[in-house]
This record gives sequence, structure tokens and C-alpha cells, in this order.
Amino acid sequence: MSAPSKATNARAVFLGAPGAGKGTQAKQASASAQLAHISTGDMLRHEVTLGTALGLQAKSFMDAGKLVPDAVIIGMVQERIRKPDAKSAWILDGFPRTLPQAEALDKSLSAASAVTHVIYFAVPEQVLFGRLTGRRTCSKCGAIWHVETKPTKLAGVCDLCGGSTVQRSDDHPEKISKRLEEYRTLTAPLLAYYKNRKLLREIDANRSPAVVFKELLELMQ
Ligand code: AP5
Ligand code: MG
Repeated sequence: MSAPSKATNARAVFLGAPGAGKGTQAKQASASAQLAHISTGDMLRHEVTLGTALGLQAKSFMDAGKLVPDAVIIGMVQERIRKPDAKSAWILDGFPRTLPQAEALDKSLSAASAVTHVIYFAVPEQVLFGRLTGRRTCSKCGAIWHVETKPTKLAGVCDLCGGSTVQRSDDHPEKISKRLEEYRTLTAPLLAYYKNRKLLREIDANRSPAVVFKELLELMQ
């Protein structure tokens, strides 16, 4: 499915609880509309794998299911958003996640480069648990799978690149509970923040990924 050309100038924030489908939709939308996909979770996991100072700092928070401190994240995103591929169009997947992050993002963007869309992927909390415990991610290309709803043809092997699929270390039940609590306390207030700015659009994301994607493209026109 190709995206309408207007979507190529979008600067979108994807909001939603863990497991709402932000990454699944962002990957598809960025590929079809040539938007830079900026996932703070993916960036942090990469830093952890590399063993950088930032990764070491973030790891203990991520392992506990807690948000990484604002000061760490804000600097990382501001640097990323200045890269050439993110000059005019991007999707922020998993950022901002606190009010100070949202305010810092607004301050760092000029009027010409401000956020154009905030998409809230709404999914009932009882659905999220099953999505997260069954998720598997390709360690090579980052493709997102699910053992029941989107299984690979061969268990543990990515259909797209042949890489091995793994379970994220924060997708275990006790960590999921903490992540959901962090979401309710620190991230959910962003819905009102963006509603007040008349940017918020809500998608019922408790439907098939294809149906959600179709509606996403319509909203981003
Ligand atoms: P991050 O990686 O951003 O994780 P998250 O927000 O918890 O979100 P997820 O990636 O778990 O879910 P998703 O919405 O992307 O769902 P997905 O598409 O994969 O953050 C991880 C950690 O990093 C945080 O806990 C924190 O420590 C730190 N961090 C990151 N950003 C931060 C920030 N800004 N500030 C501070 N700390 C930060 O889908 C999930 C599963 O569901 C998959 O298996 C998929 O196949 C399936 N699925 C998707 N859509 C559907 C559908 N429509 N129907 C059925 N199944 C579906
Ligand atoms: Mg994600």
C-alpha cells in the first residue's frame, strides 16, 4: 500500500501504551512515506548493545521497566533529529513520554519544523499483556513478530532476513506491569497536552494491523 504524497512532510508523534503497535505502524509508515523512523526504545537498546556510557546509564532503568531520565533522552533525540535524514519529515516512536520531554521537543523545533500530527494508538490494557509476552523481534533487521498473531514460518528465524528472533528482556510479566504503570502515570498526561494543542488524533488500534495502517494514512494526510 503506498502512502499519499502529503504524508511525506509529516512530523508525527506516535503515542500509546507499551504494545499498542507504535513500532509496527511506524516501520510500515516510514517505509512507504519515506519518513525517518526515530524510535527511542530502539536507539537505547542499540546503545546498550554497544556498551556505551549512555547505554550503561539507560540499562538499569530499562531493566526495571522504568523510564530513562528525561535529561538522557532529550539530548539523544535532539541530536538525532538534526541528522540529514530527519530534516523535514519524521515519526517519533516512543518520544515524548513525559511532559518535560514534550515541552523540550516543542522548544527545540522552529515553527516551520513543528510537530504536525500526534497519533494516539488506543488499545485496552488487557490486550497489551498478550501482545507483549508473545512479541519476538529480529535481532538483525528489527522486524516485529508475534508467536501467535504474526508468527515466523520457522520458529526463531526472521522471514525477512533470516536473522534470529528474540524476546525483549523487558517483555516479561513483572516488567510489563511496571512499564504499564509508568505509562499511566507519566505518559498518559500527554494526551491532554496534545489535545489542548489540537494535534491529537486517536486510532482504535485494537483491530488488525492492516486496518489500523489504512486509518493511519488517512489521518496523516
Ligand atoms: P520502547 O521500546 O519504546 O517500548 P514501549 O513504549 O514499551 O513500546 P513497545 O515497543 O513495547 O510497543 P509498541 O507500541 O512499539 O508495539 P509493537 O508494534 O512492537 O521503550 C522501551 C524502554 O526504553 C522503556 O521502558 C524505557 O525504559 C525506555 N524509553 C524509551 N523511550 C523513552 C523515553 N522517551 N523516555 C524515557 N524512557 C524511554 O507491537 C507489540 C506486539 O503486538 C508485536 O508482537 C506486534 O506484532 C503485535 N501487534 C502490533 N499491532 C497489532 C495489532 N494491530 N493487532 C494485533 N497485534 C499487534
Ligand atoms: Mg516499540
